[in-house]
Amino acid sequence: MDVLSGGGRDRYLLGDSAPELAHLVAQAEVYAAEARQLLDLIGIPTGARAVDVGCGVLGILHLLCERVGPDGRVVGVDREPRMIEAARRVTAERGLVVELAEQDATGLSLPSDSFDLVHERTVLLNVAEPEKVIGEMVRIARRGGVVAVQEPDSANWLCDPPHPAFGTLHQALLAAYRAAGKNFDQGRTIARRLREAGLTQVQVRATARVTRPGEYYHTFLLADVRRTGFVRPGSPVRSGRPE
Ligand SMILES: C[S@@+](CC[C@H](N)C(=O)[O-])C[C@H]1O[C@@H](n2cnc3c(N)ncnc32)[C@H](O)[C@@H]1O
Repeated sequence: MDVLSGGGRDRYLLGDSAPELAHLVAQAEVYAAEARQLLDLIGIPTGARAVDVGCGVLGILHLLCERVGPDGRVVGVDREPRMIEAARRVTAERGLVVELAEQDATGLSLPSDSFDLVHERTVLLNVAEPEKVIGEMVRIARRGGVVAVQEPDSANWLCDPPHPAFGTLHQALLAAYRAAGKNFDQGRTIARRLREAGLTQVQVRATARVTRPGEYYHTFLLADVRRTGFVRPGSPVRSGRPE
């Protein structure tokens, strides 16, 4: 399989093109239901201080604002300037009161012991040293606070009826992350990483999605490969039944 690396080892593999920025806003809405369930489980009081690490253009900033209310504090940080620029625009359009800053999650300029909730979603798969990000998240969470992590794992990705392109696309995606020194399948590592970072009361909830034609996740693999060019033209991958 001929796979593009997507740039240097430390760049966000999916890039910061206009389609990727638009995709992240749409994806934030698709993910919102699960994120709301997570926030329900955590139970964030109004007035809480919350941060979304690697927030992209929206992440869960809007959901955090709903929870903490006007007396709370919501911070979003991302390493990519265009993400923060777009996040400023999107949050302003939505009338959200958030603090946004360009920061690298492996070395945050946020004070220790200062947030009730520290959240990240799909950032760890995009960094070469996820343990550093978790270390920083733990550092800035207050004692007794919550560190919440949402990461993917492709262990249960199946296609029925089987289609040869599905396996090809799946392997292309994993290989692109590996070639960039990263690992897409973060989900299985999270509980261990959180324990290794010194957290107690670690809880894990796994979600399996069953998709139907027309749904976002049904074409996720193909759309990602098309948007990012992970698979070079001329490779055996063609649009097929997964769509
Ligand atoms: C897949 S996007 C997810 C964005 C957002 N969390 C969401 O769920 O919509 C991954 C984000 O992580 C950011 N990112 C990658 N490496 C980072 C780092 N070292 N520090 C901060 N942000 C980083 C990227 O710029 C990108 O915005």
